[in-house]
Amino acid sequence: MTQHILVTGGCGFIGANFVRLLLSQYSDWHVVNLDKLTYAGNLENLADLASHPSYTFVHGDICNRALVSDLFRSHNIQTVVHFAAESHVDRSIVGPGAFVETNITGTFCLLESARKFWLEEGQGSGKNRFLHVSTDEVFGSLGPTGYFTEETSYDPRSPYSASKAASDHLVRAYYHTYGLPILLTNCSNNYGPYQFPEKLIPLMLNNAQHGRPLPIYGDGSNIRDWLYVVDHCEAIVRVLEQGAVGESYNIGGHNEKKNLEIVELLCDLLDEKVSALPSGQPRRSLITFVRDRPGHDRRYAIDAGKIERELGWRPRFKFEEGIRQTVEWYLTHRPWMDNVLDGSYQQYYANMYANLVGKPEYKI
Ligand code: NAD
Ligand code: TYD
Repeated sequence: MTQHILVTGGCGFIGANFVRLLLSQYSDWHVVNLDKLTYAGNLENLADLASHPSYTFVHGDICNRALVSDLFRSHNIQTVVHFAAESHVDRSIVGPGAFVETNITGTFCLLESARKFWLEEGQGSGKNRFLHVSTDEVFGSLGPTGYFTEETSYDPRSPYSASKAASDHLVRAYYHTYGLPILLTNCSNNYGPYQFPEKLIPLMLNNAQHGRPLPIYGDGSNIRDWLYVVDHCEAIVRVLEQGAVGESYNIGGHNEKKNLEIVELLCDLLDEKVSALPSGQPRRSLITFVRDRPGHDRRYAIDAGKIERELGWRPRFKFEEGIRQTVEWYLTHRPWMDNVLDGSYQQYYANMYANLVGKPEYKI
């Protein structure tokens, strides 16, 4: 029988990839996508699926309790996958308020609506699941060795990760206090199609294509553990279908890379695929070291042993393959990139990278 699943933030990067996966491979789910369409949410990400019979889009805010409760009732929501968030660390440093509002209050509002509908009003079943999508950044920063496991203590260090940590605590509290059937996933850095070009990989691809400076924070030796977004989405389905209620699962790509390594690789791939810069220089010449991010976490690395052992999930994509597909996607979706780089993005970029933008040769 068709089940209605509430996906929040389905017009963002990971949410859109997730909705695509569900609609292409899981015909027994009807997706209700609740998205506020902030700067990061883009209807174009799912435009080809807008009239799919198993898809309903709702434009709205997860902080709107009346709207969310109404959605549970009108669509008989039995499953929630919660992506909606403010997700960019740099923006959280400049303006933390929106992160507290959406990531904490918004998650609270969803939890309350689920608790009321499933548990108080008795409209739930043994099959209900509330899957909260979180990040490895809640665990803080690693030194040169060691990995984040599900038992690692929380130690968030940016307003973004602190707000995600708070939401994780609320989600767990609803399990222990009310018995809400929650699942939690903490994932490493994703890359792939539809990522907003404020994040490292699409930002560098866009700049490198246009011959603009590539701003690397600090010395470029900070390490992230990169995971192809399709692997992440498949892991979420696996946790939804087979995860033990009340448990959390770390999801990672076994793929630690220094930022500088990533940017150099992107430069080389672009040199291979698109025409040379007017200067004739390789794109690595665009690399520019800029002031470090305040509180910049040194290293993230996930031990994904639990989800591998207990649920049999492993990433399918090798980094070399995933990154080539990603570069290809951005090169063949230039209009998508041009459309998301609207006036508000130009303003953000000018503020964020003021030193670079101020250079005479620089023009957005
Ligand atoms: P994103 O910024 O690309 O998209 C966020 C989406 O949420 C957008 O569509 C936006 O419009 C929507 N949204 C924001 N505030 C909302 C509100 N108040 N009500 C309704 N919708 C709202 O984010 P993403 O990179 O796709 O991340 C999705 C989730 O995964 C987030 O919870 C993030 O913390 C988590 N995560 C992301 C990564 C990553 O590398 N991107 C890694 C681990 C975990
Ligand atoms: P980002 O994509 O913002 O993800 P997160 O901060 O959540 O890990 O950044 C990834 C890494 O790249 C991080 O160490 C910061 C670095 N970075 C730069 O060096 N320059 C940039 O312009 C950006 C956006 C990120």
